[in-house]
Amino acid sequence: MNDLTGKIAVVTGGNSGIGYATAQYFKEAGANVVITGRSADRVATAAAGLGVKGIVADVTDLSAIDSLVAQVKNEFGKIDVLFVNAGVFNPAPVGQISEEMFDMQMGINFKGAVFTTEKFLPFINDGGSIINLSSINAYTGMPNTAIYAASKAALNAYTRTASTELAPRKIRVNSVNPGPTYTPIFGKTGMAEDQLNEFAGAMQNRIPLKRFGQPEDIAKLVTFLASDDASFITGGEYNIDGGININPILS
Ligand SMILES: NC(=O)c1ccc[n+]([C@@H]2O[C@H](COP(=O)([O-])OP(=O)(O)OC[C@H]3O[C@@H](n4cnc5c(N)ncnc54)[C@H](OP(=O)(O)O)[C@@H]3O)[C@@H](O)[C@H]2O)c1
Repeated sequence: MNDLTGKIAVVTGGNSGIGYATAQYFKEAGANVVITGRSADRVATAAAGLGVKGIVADVTDLSAIDSLVAQVKNEFGKIDVLFVNAGVFNPAPVGQISEEMFDMQMGINFKGAVFTTEKFLPFINDGGSIINLSSINAYTGMPNTAIYAASKAALNAYTRTASTELAPRKIRVNSVNPGPTYTPIFGKTGMAEDQLNEFAGAMQNRIPLKRFGQPEDIAKLVTFLASDDASFITGGEYNIDGGININPILS
């Protein structure tokens, strides 16, 4: 099951959280894995911990993506799996959305994701798999997440069209929509620890399975979608959220 033996896999934002766990699962499934991230230190530490190749590439810099693609191509030739995972969560209420925050969040979560695929595309083997890490926020009206949600909804729209256009090459494109998952992402919002704990407690209460996801929960689904076991699955979106998107009126 979920055999990736001999496959070359790239994980953007692989130095932390969901990307890190998925790189670990990809490697255990037999893939040769490349992880990326912004910070040279974090990428080097994670790559050494995982025993995979690490390359620094900020997805907001298209020339950095070109350089990433060139390095991967030189070392591995073509790739089989592209996990477009790098992303940020930057909450702000409607009425206080700055142009800077809008550009930053859309630039990483949507533009950066799109151009990662666009630039790797000539070097993805026919029959390959692209997985876009989206969010259930694409479908919720959670306060303070208007731009984050929009960036993920846009990514899901790109997934659908890309899956149609890439079907002749048998390249599958799917989106994964996690619910709240324990990773460092929330600590990077600048929220104080007691605020974060209150926020996490309130969210956890609304999740029918009464827990946050773990990065490994998401990694298992992504590894399945990357593998040939998912060879008839494209253009799909997979909620993995402990049931929160059911939005039960009573529980
Ligand atoms: N955790 C959740 O509850 C949750 C729920 C739904 C969806 N997601 C999505 O899951 C994905 C992974 O997030 P995570 O929760 O695992 O958070 P995380 O631990 O903060 O990991 C985010 C990763 O993205 C990288 N990254 C951020 N900006 C980048 C840029 N401009 N260029 C290249 N890499 C960049 C980070 O690298 P550096 O450390 O070098 O900056 C890091 O490796 C994101 O797309 C996020 O939106 C998360």
